[in-house]
Amino acid sequence: MSERPLPGRAAFVCTASPSLALLKYWGKTAGGRNLPATPSLALSLGNLRTTTTVEASFDGADEVRVGGERQPEARYSDFFDAVRRALRAELRFKAASRNDFPTASGLASSSSGFAALAFACARAGEAVLEGKKGLSPAEISSLARIGSVSAARAVFGGFSLLPAGATEAKPLYGEEHWPDLRVLVALVSLEEKAVSSREGMERSRSTSVFYPSWVENAGAELEKAVEAVARRDLEAVGAAMRRSYLRMFGTMLACDPPLIYWLPGSLALIRECEAMRREGIGVWETMDAGPQVKMLCLAADAPRIADRVRSTKAAASVIESRIGGAPEIRAASGGAVERAWSLGR
Ligand code: PMV
Repeated sequence: MSERPLPGRAAFVCTASPSLALLKYWGKTAGGRNLPATPSLALSLGNLRTTTTVEASFDGADEVRVGGERQPEARYSDFFDAVRRALRAELRFKAASRNDFPTASGLASSSSGFAALAFACARAGEAVLEGKKGLSPAEISSLARIGSVSAARAVFGGFSLLPAGATEAKPLYGEEHWPDLRVLVALVSLEEKAVSSREGMERSRSTSVFYPSWVENAGAELEKAVEAVARRDLEAVGAAMRRSYLRMFGTMLACDPPLIYWLPGSLALIRECEAMRREGIGVWETMDAGPQVKMLCLAADAPRIADRVRSTKAAASVIESRIGGAPEIRAASGGAVERAWSLGR
């Protein structure tokens, strides 16, 4: 797709990073619009990247490949229909995406995947429909959300917020807000998870006795956590982050049948983080719908924490990540790289 596009076709390449929730979204509102039942606050994992190329045209059928593998159409049809409605044109999209990290194993590949896909579809579609006004970042965030709620946040990079029931995320800060913050991502297993987050959320909503109180209490943490991010208070952010993920997993454990994403290695790392905190090392962990453990710390402490994580033998590898910026986009035929979104623009 790198040659000059034919008339009536345009291809764009977008690179986006996954969105890691400090406060978790888990559960959807009623009505089938893919809206979050709980607010989430997140940061972008800048050292993990999804790169997606999209060609828009008026012919053929929609097609998505991830790592060369054709994806089931049903997973993408609502999303592509929404893009067509937003652009008011019967366009078709061919997308090829690759992740430089394991897919569908609890590393939020769907967040970076749908963020990159939404941006690339929007820009490629606008290029075919020459002269059409570009979709705003907020509109692109709303499109990405139709594919994956966490993708609404990944559209902004940096630190972002997605209120309960909201159609689009809000950018809070760019990556420069907290330059010495790091996330260590410990890969406990590289296998794809057996239960998707979508299925897990539905099981939680329909069977977990704790689900109503999870949803009711999630908002109470938000204001404090946003303020803690604003003043770069790692201990307060870490403590709020722990409460959020542990309550989310409490809800899952109370499902029928129970939902257990943890592996023995996950628990070993949670214990190691507790031990490090007792020794005065500033490290706080979180997990998503998978066995991986992500640890928040300062850059100066990252090497010794990574050594401790390795010493447990619980992780196949450890990736150190900075906070990422906004997705980047360019025409596949070459040309300038556009920062898909920057604060204040
Ligand atoms: O947006 P999804 O379907 O990938 O679900 C994300 C769910 C969590 O990662 C567990 C939490 C979150 O807010 O990212």
